[in-house]
Amino acid sequence: MNNQQLTIALAKGRLADEALALLERCGWDLDFADVSSRRLILENKSKSLRFFLAKPGDVPTYVEYGAADIGFVGKDTLMEENRRLYEVADLGFGKCRLCVCGPKELEGRLDQIANKRVGTKYPGIASRYFADVKRESVEIIKLNGSVELAPLIGLADVIVDIVESGRTLAENDLVVLETIADISARLIVNRVSMKMKSVVIRDLIERVRRDAAIQALAGGKAEGSKS
Ligand code: PRP
Repeated sequence: MNNQQLTIALAKGRLADEALALLERCGWDLDFADVSSRRLILENKSKSLRFFLAKPGDVPTYVEYGAADIGFVGKDTLMEENRRLYEVADLGFGKCRLCVCGPKELEGRLDQIANKRVGTKYPGIASRYFADVKRESVEIIKLNGSVELAPLIGLADVIVDIVESGRTLAENDLVVLETIADISARLIVNRVSMKMKSVVIRDLIERVRRDAAIQALAGGKAEGSKS
């Protein structure tokens, strides 16, 4: 690493642990980076490297504005936030699917329900999917969590949400009706940092891509994190 300071935004949660493990495999010394600490910014002794944890939806914002040079975040968040930044590597962990889900009775009949109400934490993705892909007019209802509740309690006909193990759906008698996208964690880079700190960032990208390829070959990809 050279003497330029690099600031890294991590999405809070399991992706943060996976991202740090990846960076350690890439040869970085991260003894200082205790993500269970209450400190908001973690910095190494030489101050060449600092990390902060943010809500997943805020990570692309910090990176777009250059408050962080790079970030680790789920593809679902990137699709929803649609920020101006470089997405440079698929990290191969945090795998899940973004789906339209609903009651079993709607299987094969989704297109027959007019003026559907769609509950989701992803209003941008859901409205683009129904407008651009399905050419359908729907009502989007923004929710902040436990989205599976919406069709059960009569708030929405269907939901657009992340499916990882499928357990939440199964335990609530819901099913995947359509898959919108495959999701995994991504490495993102600020557009100016890519030029100004190109040596250290390009070196990192190369190491990360190599690691992702090795993990994929070994079949040892860490599955199962949500962003
Ligand atoms: C996510 C997602 C689903 C669930 C899917 O929610 O929104 O509810 O995980 O995981 P599964 O397929 O393994 O059951 P999260 O746990 O992030 O909490 P939230 O509902 O509060 O957003």
